[in-house]
Amino acid sequence: MTVAAVITAAGSGTRLGAHSPDGTAPKVPVPKALVPLEGRALVAWAASRIADVAERIVVTAPPLAVDAVRSALVEAGVDALVVPGGDTRQASVAAGLRALMLDPDDIVLIHDAARAFQPTEVMAATIDAVHAGADGAIPVLPVVDTLIGAPGPDGVIGDPVDREGLRAVQTPQTFRARVALDAHRVAEAHGTPPATDDATLARALGHRIVAVDGHEWGFKVTRPSDLPLARHIAQSLSG
Ligand code: C5P
Repeated sequence: MTVAAVITAAGSGTRLGAHSPDGTAPKVPVPKALVPLEGRALVAWAASRIADVAERIVVTAPPLAVDAVRSALVEAGVDALVVPGGDTRQASVAAGLRALMLDPDDIVLIHDAARAFQPTEVMAATIDAVHAGADGAIPVLPVVDTLIGAPGPDGVIGDPVDREGLRAVQTPQTFRARVALDAHRVAEAHGTPPATDDATLARALGHRIVAVDGHEWGFKVTRPSDLPLARHIAQSLSG
């Protein structure tokens, strides 16, 4: 039984809008995974933290950036296999799981590179929960905003939603390997619209997924306004 990890880093990062440095021509978009923070690519921050809890790591990269992601990981001293991701997060996770060649009794963490600063204590808590008998475990946080139904075409807002009964979901999502493999096999076979996380797929098959406390540093680096906080955390970890 080993603990292994898939890090999804194959997103384009269009919402982050990062580009090659001004003055270089042509000005090309930089995949989110390669955005540098304190001299280290986002994906390398994610991988170096997960290396504290996982013995084997597969990273899924944008197909045109496999070599660049590999170099970023080597530069950061992280040992990981880099494979091309798919068109959706779900397809990228499936590619990563295949590349890991898991034993059914292994434990697998599925982590978004974009949540590069999730503390290892949270990762360890998800692993402990699976060791304790859960089929899977995910970090969650209470929802802080007031929630409502989306406005209609007339701009009139919908019904309020009780936030007390809701949680925001983070990664890593950690499973007994047979559960993750089964969930992705069934999802692929049914061809349903891709899920944005893995616990949804496992839960749909009746697996028991438990929650552990997430952490605000596990936020998903998504928009340009997320970068100052990401930089601040990277600085405090480097210093
Ligand atoms: O797009 P979203 O923010 O939900 O992406 C979450 C994670 O999934 C990111 O780390 C991103 O790199 C990854 N992803 C992927 N393959 C895709 C799309 C997203 O690995 N095709």
